Amino acid sequence: MKLWTSRSLLLRIMPSTNGSSLCHLGVMLALVGVVFLTVMFSWFSLSSCLKQYSANSLNSFSNAAEDKPLLLLWVWPENYVFEFSDCKKFFNINSCQLTDDRSLYNNSDAVIVYHRNISLDLSNLPPSPRPLFQKWIWLHLESPTNTKIIPGLENLFNHTLSYRQDADIPVRMRLKTRKKPADDFVIPKKDKLVCWIVSNNSPLTGVSARNRIYRELSRYIHVHLFGKAYSTYLDYKDYYPTLASCKFYLSFENSIHKDYITEKINGPLAVGTVPVVLGPPRKNYENFIPGDAFIHVNDFLSVRSLARYLYMLNKNDIAYHRYFDWRKRLTPTPHLIEQTQEFILPICTACDYIARHREYKEAHDLYDWYFN
Ligand SMILES: *[C@@H]1O[C@H](CO)[C@@H](O)[C@H](O)[C@H]1NC(C)=O
Ligand SMILES: *[C@@H]1O[C@H](CO)[C@@H](O)[C@H](O)[C@H]1NC(C)=O
Ligand SMILES: *[C@@H]1O[C@H](CO)[C@@H](O)[C@H](O)[C@H]1NC(C)=O
Repeated sequence: MKLWTSRSLLLRIMPSTNGSSLCHLGVMLALVGVVFLTVMFSWFSLSSCLKQYSANSLNSFSNAAEDKPLLLLWVWPENYVFEFSDCKKFFNINSCQLTDDRSLYNNSDAVIVYHRNISLDLSNLPPSPRPLFQKWIWLHLESPTNTKIIPGLENLFNHTLSYRQDADIPVRMRLKTRKKPADDFVIPKKDKLVCWIVSNNSPLTGVSARNRIYRELSRYIHVHLFGKAYSTYLDYKDYYPTLASCKFYLSFENSIHKDYITEKINGPLAVGTVPVVLGPPRKNYENFIPGDAFIHVNDFLSVRSLARYLYMLNKNDIAYHRYFDWRKRLTPTPHLIEQTQEFILPICTACDYIARHREYKEAHDLYDWYFN
């Protein structure tokens, strides 16, 4: 607009002027024009630069919300419903949008499918074909002993979500390293020697090995029993205080498999009780927990010598206290203990994973991997 005005001004002035003044006027106008053009040019480039800048910052704002992948929970595992905001509350995970609204299926970046809920004829799976960008996550937390094979899932999923360390999305409570070593841990007061909380005692779940060891151990040492299986029901609010009041806790897994090291060891570690573990070999435990933080049943030739060792530690405070040296370097985190909270950590972990991993992926030969 401004440029056009100046040119028409020049045209209007030109006919009414003569020789030298015309020359003067020409030089002046040319100068004015150059200045004008320069100003205009810098104004244009500045404004387009500003526009670009504000567009960029707008993008980064909307991307923050848009970029959060949408994660659809196809069914609530075991019908244990929780608030999706728990991911932020308990684990500070807020990197995806979680939903259980199946009408959002076509827009979901990933869908979590709970293995135990899939029917044998596969009729309750999410619909196929799935959107091209969508990934399916196989959620299963049981050990192979307690896993039902549902044919047809072998090459259906993109990610596995399991306690297994070599799953795409491994789930477990982890000890955290301290920046600065500290000697501030105080072992809680103890009024019991050995405790065990057992909720599941169904022989079908592979518990015979742990029951055998318990029975033999209880011939030498009194074991305080709690839990559904022994009808001394323990209130959730009493779980950690009860654990803390025992010198030793039997962290016996129901079945023995690689990486199948569950919250049964996290509880005693979290409160300051020494776990006596039955599960995969010691070396496997030591991938996650320092070797001087627990006692392994396999460390002893017999259950009787294990009992003798526990008695010895009961008399020898210095030796017992050594089981807490790791506390100087590491801190445990208590896990959520209510049964209905069982799937919060796994689902939140999937949310965190999906936000970080946008790459293409297929999970093949599911059962070959899981059972071998
Ligand atoms: C998803 O898209 C498919 C194919 O475009 C369509 O048939 C189906 O109804 C859609 N599902 C939902 C839940 O919107
Ligand atoms: C899956 O869970 C739903 C409830 O959410 C239940 O109605 C259905 O029977 C379950 N299916 C299987 C195969 O367990
Ligand atoms: C997900 O896995 C399926 C089955 O292996 C595959 O067909 C599909 O292309 C994969 N999609 C993505 C986005 O990784």
